[in-house]
Amino acid sequence: MEVIIQPDVTAASQLAARMVARQLREKPNSVLGLPTGSTPLLLYRELVALKLDWRRVTTFNLDEYVGLGPDHPQSYARFMWENLFRQVNILRKNVHIPDGLAKDIPKFCTRYERQIRQVGGIDLQVLGIGTDGHIGFNEPSSSLASRTRIKTLTAETRRDNARFFGREEDVPHHVITMGIGTIMEARQVLLLAFGENKAAAVAAAVEGPITAMCPASILQMHPVAKIVVDEAAAGRLQKTDYYRWVFAQKPLWQRW
Ligand code: F6R
Repeated sequence: MEVIIQPDVTAASQLAARMVARQLREKPNSVLGLPTGSTPLLLYRELVALKLDWRRVTTFNLDEYVGLGPDHPQSYARFMWENLFRQVNILRKNVHIPDGLAKDIPKFCTRYERQIRQVGGIDLQVLGIGTDGHIGFNEPSSSLASRTRIKTLTAETRRDNARFFGREEDVPHHVITMGIGTIMEARQVLLLAFGENKAAAVAAAVEGPITAMCPASILQMHPVAKIVVDEAAAGRLQKTDYYRWVFAQKPLWQRW
C-alpha cells in the first residue's frame, strides 16, 4: 500500500487526476472502475479540464441504488453523466453502470461480471471509502471474496447519504455493488478519502487488521494500491512521517 498525504482536497484530486491521465495516455483503451459520491467530484472536474481522449476508454461503475432509474436525480447513472461522461468524448456503449431497475438482479450481476472479464478486466479502479470502511457498497461483514450482487445498506451509510436525498426515508435500502473480489482483481487501485469524518475508516483500512468488519482493509492484500488522503483524513494514521518521507524520496518520474 502506498499512502500519499496531500495538504487538501484540491491537491489530492489534482494528483489523482494526473494518475488517471497517465493511465489513459499509457493505455488509450484502458478500462476504469469508477465511484460516485462527494469524494470524486473534484477529480472528475480535473479530468474534464485535462481534455483527455476517452474514445477508446471503457468504464464500469461500482454501484447503483436498487429502484432508481438513470433519470432519477440521485441515481449514480445520472451523477456520472452529469459530472463526467457528458463532458468528455466517451462512447455511450463503453459506459457500464449497474442497472437499478434490473428485473432479474442476480442475472444482471452475472452479466456485469462477464462484461468486465470480456474487456480484459479493470486496469485502474478508483474508490472512495465509507465512514464504516465500505468500498463500493460492500458494508462491514461483506465477504472479502464477494462478486457483484445486491446488498443492504447499513443505517450509518443511509444516514451519511441522506444529505443527497434530503430525507433519510428516501435513501433506498438496497444497492447493486461490485464485490470485494471484483474490486481486488483490478490491476491498480486508487482510493481517495477526504475530511475528518473519514479518518477512523482510513486508519482502520491502512493500519488495522485485515477484516471483513472494515472491507477497505482488504486493500492491504492488493499488490498496487494507492491511498490518497488529505491532512484531515490522515489525522488518525500512526505512520504519517514514514508515508510522507516515502513520497518525498520518490524520483520525479514516479510522482505523476
Ligand atoms: C460510491 C461508492 C461508495 C462511496 C463512499 C463514500 O460509488 O462506491 O463506496 O465512495 O460511500 O462516499 P462519499 O464520497 O460521498 O463520502
